[in-house]
Amino acid sequence: RSTVVVSPATLAFAAVAKNKNDIVTVPSGYTVSVLYRAGDPIASGVAAFANDGTDTNYAQRAGDNHDGMSYFGLAASGNTPDASNNTRGLLAINHEYINPGYMHVGAPTTTTDANGVARRPEAEVLKEIEAHGVSVVEVARAGNTGAWSYVPNSALNRRVTPNTPVAFSGPVKGDAMLRTVYSKDGTTGRGTINNCANGALPWGDYATCEENWAGYFARASTDASVRTATGNAKQVTSLSRYGVGTNSRYGWQTVAATDPTSTIFSRWNASAVAANAADGTADFRNEPFTFGWVVEIDPYNPASTPRKRTALGRMAHEGVMAGRMVAGVKPAFYMGDDGRNEYIYKFVSATAWSTADATPTDRLATGDKYLDTGTLYVAKFNADGTGQWLPLVFGQNGLDANNTRYPFASQADVLANARLAGDALGATPMDRPEWTAVNPVNGEMYCTLTNNSNRRGVASSSSQRSIDAANPRSYVDTRTDGGTSTGNANGHVVRLREANDSTESTSFTWDVYAFGARSTADANNVNLSGLDDTNDFSSPDGLWFGLPTNAGGQASPLLFVQTDDGAYTDVTNCMMLIGMPGRVGDGTTRTVTSSFGGTATATARVGAAPGAKLKRFLVGPKECEITGITSTADGRSIFINVQHPGEDGDYANITSHWPQSQATGTGTGRPRAATVVITKNDGGVVGL
Ligand code: FEO
Ligand code: CA
Ligand code: CA
Ligand code: CA
Repeated sequence: RSTVVVSPATLAFAAVAKNKNDIVTVPSGYTVSVLYRAGDPIASGVAAFANDGTDTNYAQRAGDNHDGMSYFGLAASGNTPDASNNTRGLLAINHEYINPGYMHVGAPTTTTDANGVARRPEAEVLKEIEAHGVSVVEVARAGNTGAWSYVPNSALNRRVTPNTPVAFSGPVKGDAMLRTVYSKDGTTGRGTINNCANGALPWGDYATCEENWAGYFARASTDASVRTATGNAKQVTSLSRYGVGTNSRYGWQTVAATDPTSTIFSRWNASAVAANAADGTADFRNEPFTFGWVVEIDPYNPASTPRKRTALGRMAHEGVMAGRMVAGVKPAFYMGDDGRNEYIYKFVSATAWSTADATPTDRLATGDKYLDTGTLYVAKFNADGTGQWLPLVFGQNGLDANNTRYPFASQADVLANARLAGDALGATPMDRPEWTAVNPVNGEMYCTLTNNSNRRGVASSSSQRSIDAANPRSYVDTRTDGGTSTGNANGHVVRLREANDSTESTSFTWDVYAFGARSTADANNVNLSGLDDTNDFSSPDGLWFGLPTNAGGQASPLLFVQTDDGAYTDVTNCMMLIGMPGRVGDGTTRTVTSSFGGTATATARVGAAPGAKLKRFLVGPKECEITGITSTADGRSIFINVQHPGEDGDYANITSHWPQSQATGTGTGRPRAATVVITKNDGGVVGL
């Protein structure tokens, strides 16, 4: 590689102090602008958002709870891609879930029908469903240095909701487990849900990832079958392992639809036929297998059908991040499965990268080329700082019908039940793998491990895991308000370097870039990275690398770390930090002793102390999570999302007024999740 990268010595901003204000705070010299709020109209003729619970038609408005997000540059007019355009583009934005307490005029309604059955009203639930999914929205800047705004009536604007038709692609397409009332041949499905993190695919498409989809389904605990006869016992085990329970998150399956042929509500009841009161002919037991995938969307073509990429496995997908794309080398795509004691994965394409595919005429066909054939691997971290990628391939390493833990019937079965295959292979259970990010200069992969209340010194139940080298802490974090968080209370960021720095490798070395902690915590066993008041954090989640070039011609990879709730909310709202990364192995190994759930020791591999190379850049408003990060190519405009401000309140007890409060810190209205854009007042690169 010919790119010469020189890291500036310091991050050129003053760290933002921890605070609990109802404002997005950034360093002096920077400006925050609110760009795209929950409920904002994206088509002509849609009424302005009243924000009093009377609004409808979320299929033509911004959805709720913005999360992962990518910027796709556009040429000066039309829908031609131009990744280098820093003033006009499309933002593809996930709407992970909803805050029902602010969505309706009053509290969400449940009524009891004549048969004594609790029912949600159709109109409320339709709003809730349509507020999920993805936005694609045109954004433009007035001149090179003016204000950003979204274009409310752009022909390129689009919502993908849980009702949007999608196509399956890859090895599980057409498998019996995907056959539903909606698709008798198992080749199509409806929509996407709980879209958490994301990825910008190297050929110009957006990838959105289905995380906590399991919670949208209800399934009677007495159900002993799935819809297809094959592999019933294991598929039922799988539903439980993936978290499909007897009650759904919002009760959508309880709607008695006005149109009895509509299945958009009853589909969330994944029980046997008789339980589907709203449609006695339907059987939705397979619906949960149609979620848990990475979904590719062509952002430049609003009429295109999203494709679910089954070769990348089924899990609580957090995000998907491409490794370095090198001509002639098979690319890798790194993914976390966000559950306590779940795994980190990578997919290696069967097809070596061709640079001509960076600007293809048919992006989804290019996705077929790289994402439908290849090998999914799961990570095993060894105590000596090495690791292996274990292949999830039917017929290899015991992943077959004779497996004593779970029998596997086919490659489709392995992919759809990736968690079970990871168990069978002995993958390393991690402290909730969230986002993945790749250093564009050296290819090292970083993954946030947000926290784990089920980590112990010595595990004493099947849901717990004992500390190990890759997850070495279990302790009590005591809040200033008297509450406590336990286990790995504050999370950490693990990073790995592939053997030969190649995406194709099946072995790696690893260490921990930073351990989250209060700066005041025990330096020997908790605050292992020596965080201080300028960079202490808890519960890392959003993670992304940029590679901006400053005015002096210096290009530097910058690591953006965002936080989600977690243990530190007694002191500060959630935040975003910017770091200048080191390298795997640049630190030390230390023996760490647990102080919660039994006393044990682990060898922690601690990266070089971040010190002044990691600083707090932003603090969000009350009760929010900061998540989603993308940038224009020049690094001069960065976009981030504020998710669930005021999440502890509701319509009757409003606990944040953001973004209305952004100017003064106060307000009267209901809070709204929103995308904000951050620019430097001198027009320079953010962070440098
Ligand atoms: Fe949606 Fe794992 O955060
Ligand atoms: Ca997340
Ligand atoms: Ca999270
Ligand atoms: Ca959250």
